[in-house]
Amino acid sequence: MDYKVADLSLAEFGRKEIRLAEHEMPGLMAVRREYADAQPLRGAKIMGSLHMTIQTAVLIETLVALGADVRWVSCNIFSTQDHAAAAVVVGPEGTVDEPKGVPVFAWKGETLEEYWWCTDQALAWPDGTPPNMILDDGGDATLLVHKGAEYEKVGSVPEFGADDPEEWGVILDTLRTTIAARPGRWTETAAAIKGVTEETTTGVHRLYEMAKNGTLAFPAINVNDSVTKSKFDNKYGCRHSVIDGLNRATDVLIGGKVALVAGYGDVGKGCADALRGQGARVIVTEIDPICALQAAMDGYQVTTLDEVVEIVDIFVTTTGNFNIITADHMARMKHQAIVSNIGHFDNEIDMAGLMRTPGIVRNNIKPQVDEWVYPDGHSVLVLAEGRLMNLGCATGHPSFVMSNSFTNQVIAQIELFTKTEEYPVGVYVLPKHLDEKVARLHLGALGVKLTELTKEQAAYIGVDIEGPYKPDHYRY
Ligand code: NAI
Repeated sequence: MDYKVADLSLAEFGRKEIRLAEHEMPGLMAVRREYADAQPLRGAKIMGSLHMTIQTAVLIETLVALGADVRWVSCNIFSTQDHAAAAVVVGPEGTVDEPKGVPVFAWKGETLEEYWWCTDQALAWPDGTPPNMILDDGGDATLLVHKGAEYEKVGSVPEFGADDPEEWGVILDTLRTTIAARPGRWTETAAAIKGVTEETTTGVHRLYEMAKNGTLAFPAINVNDSVTKSKFDNKYGCRHSVIDGLNRATDVLIGGKVALVAGYGDVGKGCADALRGQGARVIVTEIDPICALQAAMDGYQVTTLDEVVEIVDIFVTTTGNFNIITADHMARMKHQAIVSNIGHFDNEIDMAGLMRTPGIVRNNIKPQVDEWVYPDGHSVLVLAEGRLMNLGCATGHPSFVMSNSFTNQVIAQIELFTKTEEYPVGVYVLPKHLDEKVARLHLGALGVKLTELTKEQAAYIGVDIEGPYKPDHYRY
């Protein structure tokens, strides 16, 4: 079996944590039981690009339990938990000397070159055949396939959007090398893929863009906008893991400090709530009047970054947008202000601009924590080099909330793989009855007792006793 992880001897530790996580992931385990006989993913060759954590290990082993052949990478250079990666490679039945699990190409602290090499490896089965499904988080695997096919068609690809030019150079090199090794490979891959299921807001944004400009090559299910994903993982997950990231990176007392949350979408709501829960005075920035009004009515001061940049102790960007915190902002910050991002890509913070600041010195405190010292002696602390701090500095979201997200992922994979003809090229969300099913699978573990509608009540509000209980336009 081909794979590349940091240290296979960590597998035993990983396996112990996977065992504990399985108990905390009732949705995934229920899906394993439900489909054990039917094996709906038999024949599926799933390439996964999603943070290689313990929770993801339970997702991978669920896909395998349903019959899939899987290869995996992380979707961020810092987010791999090396013991999880090792345990997945070894597998429940294997040993360190004889691994029998799933090929994983991921370790904590990859370079950008290594990151794209890993993505390429996971997209190529050893027999030379392509995958027929992608499970993506942030859209990098989908991007490589699309850009590769485009390159093969027209001999070049334009740089895309606001993304990092350095990274774009690495992607181009990856494409050139892979196309030289096997011309036509990406066109073949794009044609072989039945569909992609996308985990996060940023990846979903890319998919709708491609669908709009007619370049999307295969159907996609937007897992992010299942209610049981974005209204849970993005919000309650970040409510947990933003504090975990800050604590493990800096261990500063949050109570009494001034924290600024940029963006009051699902992630911002969770982060602001958590920081307030720790006793911070939280300030929110927004561009959307609806979200700004929500933040104000939730009791937060809403203002611009420029107004308050000098008084804030802890910055967290959650926008999925770029250039939120500029180098100029950072130069104006308090001594040892903490600068962090929990949005998908690192370009929310202008790291390139910070590095170009005349006379600035980088003082690495420990992995994923850097003090940037200005010539006048004051400094800012940047977490995870501006990449998502909850996965870079801590271990991401806990199992229970990820069970909701990943149960959606498994159901979406089954939908696209088994009902391909029902999904012409486009972007879809899962039907509401499946969203409600995911929630239902998690109630028992929390001791929730659901009230059942009477026949008369169901008729009165115009729904079936079995659901769905809300119209599609309902916003929760
Ligand atoms: P969202 O769209 O619900 O929220 C983003 C908010 O930022 C919006 O309300 C938008 O109006 C606001 N915004 C945009 N530009 C802004 C600016 N210049 N200044 C202030 N506010 C601005 O998206 P969601 O679901 O909250 O996700 C945000 C990011 O977090 C995405 O990149 C997503 O992929 C990522 N994410 C990260 C997770 C993690 O574990 N680190 C988990 C889930 C999502």
